[in-house]
Amino acid sequence: DDFEGRGVWRYDDALPVEMGVTIQEGDTPLYSVPDLEEETGVEHLHVKHEGMNPTGSFKDRGMTVGVQVASELGVDRLACASTGNTSAALAAYGARSELETLVLLPAGKVAAGKVAQASLHGARILEVDGNFDTCLDIVQDLAGMGEAYLLNSLNPFRLEGQKTIGLEILEQCKSRTGEFPDRIVLPVGNAGNTSALYKAFRELVQAGELDETEVPKLTGVQAEGAAPMVEAIEEGNDEIHRWDDVETRATAIRIGNPVNAPKAIPGIRETDGTAVAVSDERITDAQRSLAEEGVGVEPASAASIAGLRKLRDRGVVDADENVVCLTTGHLLKDPDAAAAAGADPEPVPGDTEGVLEHLD
Ligand code: F0G
Repeated sequence: DDFEGRGVWRYDDALPVEMGVTIQEGDTPLYSVPDLEEETGVEHLHVKHEGMNPTGSFKDRGMTVGVQVASELGVDRLACASTGNTSAALAAYGARSELETLVLLPAGKVAAGKVAQASLHGARILEVDGNFDTCLDIVQDLAGMGEAYLLNSLNPFRLEGQKTIGLEILEQCKSRTGEFPDRIVLPVGNAGNTSALYKAFRELVQAGELDETEVPKLTGVQAEGAAPMVEAIEEGNDEIHRWDDVETRATAIRIGNPVNAPKAIPGIRETDGTAVAVSDERITDAQRSLAEEGVGVEPASAASIAGLRKLRDRGVVDADENVVCLTTGHLLKDPDAAAAAGADPEPVPGDTEGVLEHLD
């Protein structure tokens, strides 16, 4: 395959298969954001934009591995529950591998771009009368009954692929700033990425390639209306108390029962990181600020910047820190949120004179 040794597959030594079903995933940009760097006052601030993957989110890194394993196993049907991005990625990788794909979405709570992707790539879409957590309960039952192969982040092969986010961040940050990041700030939904990054760094420490003191502080951000992991961290619990009622404009992380929390919470604690909840208003402000620097992200992604701002205000993040914020999905995933956060189009007449008059 012509993508061997590139993107995610540059890290094949750290992955369970030598090559995956590929749509050329990984090797995403690490952007400088000088205005935000100045405003937040941290010494180095970069944005790792995972929205620049083939289907517009980090999920591609996991799917290239997970769908490869599924096709090697010879399964008949792939399935996932999703707040949208997982379903878009699974639909695309399922199409690429010519496997039947089933996705369960919470009715009315998935951004338009994501449903459109799942639809065009040919997934069978079930709109479930319930939240994401209910969808995941159902799809786990189906997988347990042998009806489908599960490709949510409970699938360990998917998280292996997502480790490469952490590996790329270390390399890119080092070459850009001369040092590894002190802290990685990331949005948390099911806490798959938090777990995957922690595993990646632990493996590097075990291999003697990274000193324990160099492991970045994992810092998770949830929306205030869906923050069971922040609650657990703040109360010093190892277990999550499931939130049955969740609400946020950042629909990607509208999750009340983060299934990877048992793996993610130790990662946050042991790296001396933290977790913080941010309001929808602050998420939208952060989405605008990133857009003003030319970086277009969906609301859930902007939570990382909103979280950093809040932690700077609280004095938790120091000015001398080297920080990377992870932005997980592309602006076009949620065109309605983007349009609502941005300026309104101005109707003008269909002639130059009228346009000039309007501009004055
Ligand atoms: N950001 C975006 C854009 C997401 O789509 C998700 C998760 C997250 C952050 C949270 O990541 O689960 O690893 O903590 N989306 C899943 C989905 C749940 O179905 O697309 P996590």
